[in-house]
Amino acid sequence: MKDVMILTGAGQIGMAIARRMGYGRKIVIGDKKMENAEAISNTMNEAGFDTVPVEMDLSSRESIMKLIEKAQGFGEVSMLVNAAGVSPSQASIEAILKVDLYGTAVLLEEVGKIIKKGGVGVTISSQSGWRMPALTAEEDELLATTPTEELLKLPLLQPENIKDTLHAYQMAKRCNEKRVMAEAVKWGQRGARLNDIAPGIVVTPLAIDEFNGPRGDFYKNMFANCPAGRPGTADEIANVAELLMSDKAAFITGSTFLIDGGATASYFYGPLAPKK
Ligand SMILES: NC(=O)c1ccc[n+]([C@@H]2O[C@H](COP(=O)([O-])OP(=O)(O)OC[C@H]3O[C@@H](n4cnc5c(N)ncnc54)[C@H](O)[C@@H]3O)[C@@H](O)[C@H]2O)c1
Repeated sequence: MKDVMILTGAGQIGMAIARRMGYGRKIVIGDKKMENAEAISNTMNEAGFDTVPVEMDLSSRESIMKLIEKAQGFGEVSMLVNAAGVSPSQASIEAILKVDLYGTAVLLEEVGKIIKKGGVGVTISSQSGWRMPALTAEEDELLATTPTEELLKLPLLQPENIKDTLHAYQMAKRCNEKRVMAEAVKWGQRGARLNDIAPGIVVTPLAIDEFNGPRGDFYKNMFANCPAGRPGTADEIANVAELLMSDKAAFITGSTFLIDGGATASYFYGPLAPKK
């Protein structure tokens, strides 16, 4: 039996990472849109990978459990890549919190219970979480450690405290970073590591929806005025994921890596800074 990689989110970022790390493994590709999972599965199988597409919904614990059970049927799960998500222009506040915040927390928790000794995981948050003003230490701790089924009941996530879908997305991505820290401690008890990548604008179908959505000009301005002067590619995210998932990163766990062409730096100390 082969070791298994679970990939959630059959998008460009997920596929780029799976292609770097998934050779020699069974890759179980879960996505809410079966056609996305099938498309990436076919592309990868035609390139010599061994993948299977599965319809799953990251916002449902039951669906996550079914995906894990299916994966375990092929062998021991030694890798997790979570690149499923919805963006502020694609979904409602409720859907963003349910998929990006709650679903990610459940997935990290449940895979953490079965990950093979020495296994590794990466999840994808966003630079967006880095722009939101700091939360209090208590709020950060609540996002990190509240039991998953209680998370969406937290006062700071209630509709009166979430301004719009962008704010919901930022809270979800901040929560991802905090959850990765807390979960990395538990994963460590199994000799496994878990890290997070916070990408800037990376050209994918999700980002193209953003370029064409209400914040299109904001995004175009962002990559024109960041030090890199361009959006990123999924393969550049995979460069860092490959390092994090390899033995070279044996001392790295519970960390978030910002890969944004310098957009956050420019937001704080350069031309992208909001006008005062
Ligand atoms: N592209 C960017 O600029 C960018 C920037 C920062 C963060 N991210 C994050 O990267 C991750 C991957 O996004 P991408 O850019 O590769 O987008 P993508 O659109 O290429 O892929 C996302 C995939 O997630 C799937 N998905 C959505 N909701 C789901 C659900 N409930 N259950 C299972 N699958 C679901 C979609 O069907 C899609 O196939 C997301 O978490 C996104 O927030 C992307």
